[in-house]
Amino acid sequence: MPDNEYSAGRKEDKPELEEIQEFEEDDFKKELNEENIIVFGENLVKDYEIGDFIVRAVDNVSLKIKVGEFIAIMGPSGAGKTTLLNLLGGLDSPNKGRIYNQGVKISDMNQESLTTFRLMNSGFIFQNYNLISSLTAEENIMFPLMLSGMKFDKQRERAIKLLEDVRLGDRREHLPFQLSAGEQQRVAIARAVANDPPIILADEPTANLDKKTSQFIRDIFKLLKEDKKTIIIATHDDELIALADKIISFDEGKIISEERISN
Ligand SMILES: Nc1ncnc2c1ncn2[C@@H]1O[C@H](COP(=O)(O)OP(=O)(O)OP(=O)(O)O)[C@@H](O)[C@H]1O
Ligand SMILES: [Mg+2]
Repeated sequence: MPDNEYSAGRKEDKPELEEIQEFEEDDFKKELNEENIIVFGENLVKDYEIGDFIVRAVDNVSLKIKVGEFIAIMGPSGAGKTTLLNLLGGLDSPNKGRIYNQGVKISDMNQESLTTFRLMNSGFIFQNYNLISSLTAEENIMFPLMLSGMKFDKQRERAIKLLEDVRLGDRREHLPFQLSAGEQQRVAIARAVANDPPIILADEPTANLDKKTSQFIRDIFKLLKEDKKTIIIATHDDELIALADKIISFDEGKIISEERISN
C-alpha cells in the first residue's frame, strides 16, 4: 500500500489531524510502557469466511497482558483460543480492533512486516510442532537465527546449545520424521526461544505427549517463567495451568472470565 501523499514531505507539511493522531499514538504507547503492558488488544474481531459461511472466531475481545505474566487460556474446542494466540503474537491480523505488542501496533501491519516482527519478538510453539520436514533438528533451530542475520558458525553453536538444553544433543542430524512426538516438540521449543523473544505463545504444547515428556516441557515453561518471559498458553493441562498468574476462560470467541491466581 503506498504511503499517503504527505509521507515524503517534511513534518511541517503534514495536515494537523494526522499530527494530532501521531501525538495521541505516542502518548498511548508511553502509557502502555508505564503500565508495563506488553500485549494490548482492544475490541478484537476475527472472522473466517468460507463460502457462504462466516465464523466469528474472536468476537470483540479486549485484554491487557503485563511483562512477565504467565497467562493460561482455557476453553472448549472451537472456542477461538488458537485464533486469539495467532492475533496476539502477530501470526494473523484481526478484521477489527487494535493490537500492540511491545509498544508496536501490529494490528494493521502487512504480512511481510509481521513476519519480520515475529522473528525477534514472539516465539510460537504449536500443538503439532510445525517443524520444517526437510531440515534436521539442528537446521530447524538455525533457521530463525539465519533469518535474524546471525553468522553461520554462531547459528550452529547456539542451535547445539539449545538442543542440549532440551536434552537432544544426540539428535542433531535427525529429520523431524525420525524424531518422536515429544522430541519434535522439544526441538520446536528450542526453535521458539532461539532468538530469545520476550513473548512465548504456546498452543496446547503438551496435548499429544506422554507423561514424562509433558513433565519435561512443563519444567521448561517453569524456567521460562523464572527467566521473566511473558508466556501465553492455550492449554487444558492442569499442571501448566498451575504455573499461571492469570487464567482466561474463553468460549464462542469471547472472554467468559479472568481469574488472577496468587502464586
Ligand atoms: N483458517 C480457518 N478458516 C476457517 N475457519 C477457521 C479457521 N481457523 C479457525 N476457524 C474456525 O474458527 C473457530 C475457532 O477456531 P480455533 O482453532 O481458534 O479454536 P480453538 O479454541 O483453538 O479450538 P481447539 O481447542 O479445537 O484447538 C472454529 O469454529 C473454527 O472452525
Ligand atoms: Mg486450537
